[in-house]
Amino acid sequence: MSLAIGILGTGAYLPERVLTNADLEKLVDTSDQWIRERTGIRERRVAGPDEDVATMGIAACRQALAHAGIDGSELRYLVVGSNTSNYMYPAIAIRIQHGLGLDDKLAAFDLQAGCSGFNYALYVAENLIKNEGGYALVVGTDTNTRMLDFTDRSTCILFGDGAGAVVIGPTDRSRLLASFLASSYNGKLYLKTEFSELNSPFLPKPTPVNNYMYMDGPEIFKFAVRAVQESLRRILAQAGMTREEIDFLIIHQANYRILETGARFAKMPMDKVYVNVDRYGNTSAASIPIALHEALMEGKIKKNHKVILISFGAGVTWAATALEWLS
Ligand code: UT7
Repeated sequence: MSLAIGILGTGAYLPERVLTNADLEKLVDTSDQWIRERTGIRERRVAGPDEDVATMGIAACRQALAHAGIDGSELRYLVVGSNTSNYMYPAIAIRIQHGLGLDDKLAAFDLQAGCSGFNYALYVAENLIKNEGGYALVVGTDTNTRMLDFTDRSTCILFGDGAGAVVIGPTDRSRLLASFLASSYNGKLYLKTEFSELNSPFLPKPTPVNNYMYMDGPEIFKFAVRAVQESLRRILAQAGMTREEIDFLIIHQANYRILETGARFAKMPMDKVYVNVDRYGNTSAASIPIALHEALMEGKIKKNHKVILISFGAGVTWAATALEWLS
């Protein structure tokens, strides 16, 4: 009998530099108490001068490959979800491919789906190898701190940098049960880069230049709560599961209050909902794979556990995956 497609190994990379709420108190008019009460965040990580989305992704991929116990030469695809590349091209995925010494050995490309980037990349990679065989690396990596306005207290306190990766393919370690992707236009969270307008002799020059992320926090909060609820309903129906059958829940780490809402809706205690938003803030596309890696390493996901991964983000996008950890 042929093996189902599942996750064989996971990895994560978090930069060393820690940015605490106390550090942010020195930059903007905020307080540790406000940030903790409204978001649950205590600190986040900031990529160093020699790091970027590709270097962080390479580190996460190396760990995922070692955990999976497969050699890079067995990979057919490398799909990266990210929103914060420092190069418009080449793709982050191709820079990771090169860093892993896999030039000519696989096809690598990026996709952009806000903080749902990892779930999107997982869906695409699963369907590619379902048809074509072999293994794939799926990565979420973001350097959010390079896109933030550190004079805007409503956004700069929320985000951090990091990367996570998984290896998928035919395996008896876990199996992917169901997944879906969804999107809809909503202009309440965006980053409109004006660099292209600055360079073009055919466009009026923007003044002032604004290359920072903008977010209407309360509006995105309302969307996020709806997205988590709809995602739960939809993925359970698709996987033929009931709420009672969920053993562990991983929700995009945007705000502790959103995680609590998701737990209430799923009727699950918070100890079955992964939380690292306190340590890393919102790492966008990296959030789900970092959480999955840590939950596995901490033994929170156990043999025969059914796990749901839910993400939501700019676009807006939302997506979910159901999987079963078998060994
Ligand atoms: O991955 C993308 C998804 N993003 C999200 O999921 C983010 C969703 N949104 C949120 O997490 C929350 O909306 C925020 C954390 C961004 C804001 O929390 P909130 O409870 O919705 O606060 P608010 O924006 O309604 O602001 C309440 C008050 C305001 O003051 P006034 O107008 O009531 O006097 C803000 O100016 O808090 C003020 N405020 C702050 N005060 C201290 C906003 N940011 C800060 C701050 N420190 N950093």
